[in-house]
Amino acid sequence: MKIKAIIAFLAFILVISSGCGKTDEPVIEERIVFGFSQLGDESEWRTSSSNDIKRAAEEAGIQLIFDNAQQNQFNQIKAIRSFILNGVDVIAFSPIVEGGWDNILMEAKAAGIPVILVDRNIKTEEEGLYTAFIGSDFFWEGVQAGKWMVERFGYRQGVVRVAEISGTVNSSPAIGRHEGLMEVFRDNPKFVLAFSISGDFMRSKGKECMEEILKAAPDIDILYAHNDDMAIGAIEVMEEAGILPGHDIAIVSVDAQRSGLEALKEKKINCIVECSPYIGDALMELVFKIVNGEPFPAVTYIEERVFTDRDDVDSLPVRP
Ligand code: AHR
Repeated sequence: MKIKAIIAFLAFILVISSGCGKTDEPVIEERIVFGFSQLGDESEWRTSSSNDIKRAAEEAGIQLIFDNAQQNQFNQIKAIRSFILNGVDVIAFSPIVEGGWDNILMEAKAAGIPVILVDRNIKTEEEGLYTAFIGSDFFWEGVQAGKWMVERFGYRQGVVRVAEISGTVNSSPAIGRHEGLMEVFRDNPKFVLAFSISGDFMRSKGKECMEEILKAAPDIDILYAHNDDMAIGAIEVMEEAGILPGHDIAIVSVDAQRSGLEALKEKKINCIVECSPYIGDALMELVFKIVNGEPFPAVTYIEERVFTDRDDVDSLPVRP
């Protein structure tokens, strides 16, 4: 008897607390679930990119599932597959290299999940395997680097010798930044690419590459590093070898992250072509548009600038 009374009382409490009527039912807001595969954390740029995406997702109220692939394409494919299995609303990824994505993108397509390419581009056998791209125009960046070289060294009689420390082999920034430079050199034949080596966008490898350059092509006029980190690594090696970076060998890099801008202020780097990792807000806007069925741009290039050692130091951006 006593137990029955207790059960009846609990049931009563439950009914009261559930609000009895439909009108008082709590509204459960459905958050967008967004899976993002970051390719790794090889550079200052990459850290800024990851932080910016996390911040923007939080501010936009989007539930982010973030995966760091640690520089491994297989890990990226695994992460994307798990996003598909979890039935996320939108998938995005920064592809480490251009090729090898067809199968996983077909799986996403079959599951009806839109895919956004962030920062880097890809090449696929089949068309229409992704929904949108947002990132940088790497070819443009290479052209800007070449234009600065021509502007600063164009007066020289004779050949101008350039060494390149490129980014990850087969990645779209390494390809675009190299091809952009070559386009400028085609119109300015006295500029010669004397040596090219990949430093995988990493500071430690930038050091190793500069050691190789000093052995193979010590008489270069300009070093073109595909990012700030590799330029900083190269600067360390130059200084150890008694070479004045930015003076004995001019340096052009890409990114404009904190340590790169510091080196520019010290005139150890002469020119930096900006590559902006701060695309989180634009990315979330794109996610909302795609989920809500609103029109959206298929391709968004981020506006970027060129900074040189002749700029007013106070006009340079301040990086977090
Ligand atoms: O894809 C963008 C490039 O990747 C940045 O220039 C580089 O720093 C990063 O690792």
